[in-house]
Amino acid sequence: MTILKTSVAKKVAMALSALFLVLFILVHLAINLTLIYPGKEAFDAAVEFMATNPFIQIMQPILFLVFIFHITMGIYLEWTNQSKRSVKYVKSNPGAASSWASRNMIWTGLFVLLFLIIHLLNYFVPFKTQDITDHYALVIGLFKNPVYTLLYVLAFVALGIHLSHGFQSAFQSLGTPREKCNKALVVTGNIIALLVAFGFSAIAIYFYFI
Ligand code: HEM
Repeated sequence: MTILKTSVAKKVAMALSALFLVLFILVHLAINLTLIYPGKEAFDAAVEFMATNPFIQIMQPILFLVFIFHITMGIYLEWTNQSKRSVKYVKSNPGAASSWASRNMIWTGLFVLLFLIIHLLNYFVPFKTQDITDHYALVIGLFKNPVYTLLYVLAFVALGIHLSHGFQSAFQSLGTPREKCNKALVVTGNIIALLVAFGFSAIAIYFYFI
């Protein structure tokens, strides 16, 4: 697409794809929390709703395309940043707490991608190809596998680190002045990062042990 040829357009498209994924991951977390409270019935009902609601059905292929776009563009931006060091993509202030996160977006992203593939093979494929009615049992069963649970926790810690830089970076890419980006966005980004890392991990660890 010609519009994506300018570097500003690429950054804006990357930021929009990223914020869409943030929204998705927060909805996903809210649904997963029902595994713990209120429990099985609520979780199965939420999955049933997601599987049948027409709006969600339209959003599913869009989400898939946004993921593909974000991953492809992330790899492309990293590759061009590496080869043209003088025109680096927006990174956080050197020395700021998030600088390790900002330098390693590609690695935290690729780790999340590895987990995503395993997750799709273990959950989404059986869900789409078999007649599964007890979604709760399927998910809980996966958490009983220590390797899966360990990978799950590490992936969400990686995603938390990705978001600790990514959230504010997305707003910078959308043109928010750096001064305005600082306080509120950094705090919000860190809260979201912690919620995602600890929320998903806590659910997995809880079901591993009970
Ligand atoms: C649910 C999963 C994910 C979420 C919520 C997410 C979120 C974000 C956010 C908010 C940003 C900042 C965008 C900006 O600065 O404009 C970002 C950047 C990035 N993401 Fe992700 N991401 C996810 C998965 C992935 C995956 C699987 C990859 C795999 C390669 C990836 C690679 C990257 C890279 C390389 C950047 C930095 C681009 C750059 O600044 O040069 N992300 N992501």
